[in-house]
Amino acid sequence: MPVALVTGASSGIGAAVAERLAVQGGWRLALNGRDRNRLDRVAARTGGAVFPADLIVPGATEVLVAAASLAGQDRIGLLVAAAGVGWAGPLWTMPGDAVDRLLTVDLRATVHLVRLVLPSMLAAEDGHIVLVGSVAGSVGVRNEAVYSAAKGALGVFADALRQELHGSGVHVTLVVPGVVDTPFFERRGVPYARSRPRPMPPDRVADAICRAVALGREQVYVPGWLRLPGLVRSAVPGLYQRLAFRFG
Ligand SMILES: NC(=O)c1ccc[n+]([C@@H]2O[C@H](COP(=O)([O-])OP(=O)(O)OC[C@H]3O[C@@H](n4cnc5c(N)ncnc54)[C@H](OP(=O)(O)O)[C@@H]3O)[C@@H](O)[C@H]2O)c1
Repeated sequence: MPVALVTGASSGIGAAVAERLAVQGGWRLALNGRDRNRLDRVAARTGGAVFPADLIVPGATEVLVAAASLAGQDRIGLLVAAAGVGWAGPLWTMPGDAVDRLLTVDLRATVHLVRLVLPSMLAAEDGHIVLVGSVAGSVGVRNEAVYSAAKGALGVFADALRQELHGSGVHVTLVVPGVVDTPFFERRGVPYARSRPRPMPPDRVADAICRAVALGREQVYVPGWLRLPGLVRSAVPGLYQRLAFRFG
């Protein structure tokens, strides 16, 4: 049975994906996060194996991929890169270490994980990579400049990878969720304050991810209307800027 490596599996979207994959069956789950207790609880519900690791630590991605492959005694057939952190506030008030942490967890570690799982997927001519982006990466959100940059980079990373992997049997899905009801906002230190869009349960994003993997979809917005802001921004940038200044 191929291994599904899920990062961010100790909480929110990653934990919900692990639970969906367990119900679906056909995967040996390798669960990564930092919090051992929460990971153990997800493992108890899903039958997955835990691989606690802080993805900021240099070399952690190499150790994680090697350990997950060895423990499963099979290749990694699915990577769901759901680990991520946020930060909110004007860029000039953002501490340097928070910039580095965000870029490392949300972008750098993800790129390395993808780089490391690809050789065995390519050898098997079969594999699927799921990157968890954000609508902030489609449009750029005020007070989330670094987060927007990291998530936007994941979007073009996915586009470029798809070209490199064309015809290889390895698929790349970018999932772009809107607001999801997880500890993400509490952890970034600034709660979600808008009345709309209303936060959705992480199960909804997990369902979309599992469907995208089953159907080989390249890009999935959850909910679907979230593709509109990005389309307006590309088609009529002037109008988009005016709307963004007005409504944020
Ligand atoms: N919530 C939203 O509204 C929303 C919207 C769009 C996109 N997203 C994206 O969805 C993904 C999952 O977020 P979420 O909402 O599920 O948030 P969450 O509940 O806070 O979960 C974040 C996960 O990332 C892991 N993580 C954070 N720092 C890590 C590190 N240094 N090393 C290893 N793992 C680390 C956490 O592990 P520990 O807890 O064990 O440290 C946790 O499992 C993120 O990429 C986020 O940007 C979220």
